[in-house]
Amino acid sequence: MAFHFFSNIFSIYLILISAFFITISAKFSEQFAQMEAMPSVNKMTHLHFYFHDIIGGKNPSVYYIFRGKNNVGTTAMIDDPLTEGTEHGSKIVGRAQGMYSFPTKTEPALLMVINFSFLEGIYNGSTISILGRNPVLQKVREMPIVGGTGMFRFSHGYALAKTAHFNPKNGDAVVEYDVYVMHF
Ligand SMILES: *[C@@H]1O[C@H](CO)[C@@H](O)[C@H](O)[C@H]1NC(C)=O
Ligand SMILES: *[C@@H]1O[C@H](CO)[C@@H](O)[C@H](O)[C@H]1NC(C)=O
Repeated sequence: MAFHFFSNIFSIYLILISAFFITISAKFSEQFAQMEAMPSVNKMTHLHFYFHDIIGGKNPSVYYIFRGKNNVGTTAMIDDPLTEGTEHGSKIVGRAQGMYSFPTKTEPALLMVINFSFLEGIYNGSTISILGRNPVLQKVREMPIVGGTGMFRFSHGYALAKTAHFNPKNGDAVVEYDVYVMHF
């Protein structure tokens, strides 16, 4: 009798435990059929802006955290303004925050790990993330957009970068960006 009682308690215990784990795993991951989860229209957005890499002067936006021999491994953190026009005083539409680094000895190609965080209109607060190779001496460099937040959730796409101005004296550069992103 006592044994029966305990075995009943034990099976209730097992049922509760397994119910607990089933609930947990159901919360941990859920799958949706694509149709119900996402709006059916995929949008393509084109963004155009200028990226200001300010190295010289009193107020730089680039901070070198390591300078390697012959530039190999040279790494900088940046918080660069993104503007509507090419001039430094032009309206700010966002900031480029992240880092770049020179992994190569041969062609100067930056590894870019940068978030573009936008401040303008409906994109205020939204970000896109770039992770790519930027061979800075080439006329047009293409880099992948690997994701985004806010308006740019689920985004993927590419960026085309072209140097608009370069000051060889202090290294300041203005780079024109055309970004094409698909998102929902
Ligand atoms: C870039 O964005 C990602 C995803 O939102 C975040 O995890 C990361 O900390 C951001 N990095 C910088 C430098 O802002
Ligand atoms: C962007 O959003 C921030 C925070 O909500 C706000 O302070 C700022 O005024 C907004 N900027 C523009 C241009 O709407």
